[in-house]
Amino acid sequence: MRTLTELVCIGTLALAAGCAHGPAADDSTYQGLGGQGGIKKIVDTFVPLILADARIRDSFRDTDLKNLSMRLEEQFCALSGGPCTYRGKDMKEIHDGLNITNAQFNALAEDLQAAMDRHGVAPAVQNKLVARLAPMQREIVTK
Ligand code: HEM
Repeated sequence: MRTLTELVCIGTLALAAGCAHGPAADDSTYQGLGGQGGIKKIVDTFVPLILADARIRDSFRDTDLKNLSMRLEEQFCALSGGPCTYRGKDMKEIHDGLNITNAQFNALAEDLQAAMDRHGVAPAVQNKLVARLAPMQREIVTK
């Protein structure tokens, strides 16, 4: 269901109603992930998969996992068009010095997809989220 504001912004009243930036952001990916509750479930599955993954787990030895989960929830919510603001560190800054390889980046993306599979997220929705994470590869991979 669209909100009244969205309907007004889509209609001819757009400018009069102060919708200079167009209709409200598309949150279909956020909804496809199951909203805030769905994203929390996905992250709660994703983090243990990372810690069990021999390809990447060593990088997380000294990581505050509670903070990591919180930041990932915010980030996935914001990236998928949900009503959140990412309050974590800059991707380049936080991953700098971790010597992350492309293979490790891909391993983590695989674990995320496995977590989404477990929670029944549709492949098209999975692809949308992964596509929004893909540009971060340039900032995260340093080796
Ligand atoms: C799409 C890929 C990735 C995304 C979206 C991502 C996202 C994040 C986020 C949101 C944080 C928390 C930032 C904060 O605390 O403010 C974080 C921290 C971290 N990430 Fe990533 N990450 C990705 C890939 C990787 C990979 C491939 C590795 C290693 C194999 C990795 C290792 C870490 C570690 C060790 C931390 C904690 C650093 C610390 O607390 O000092 N990340 N990441």
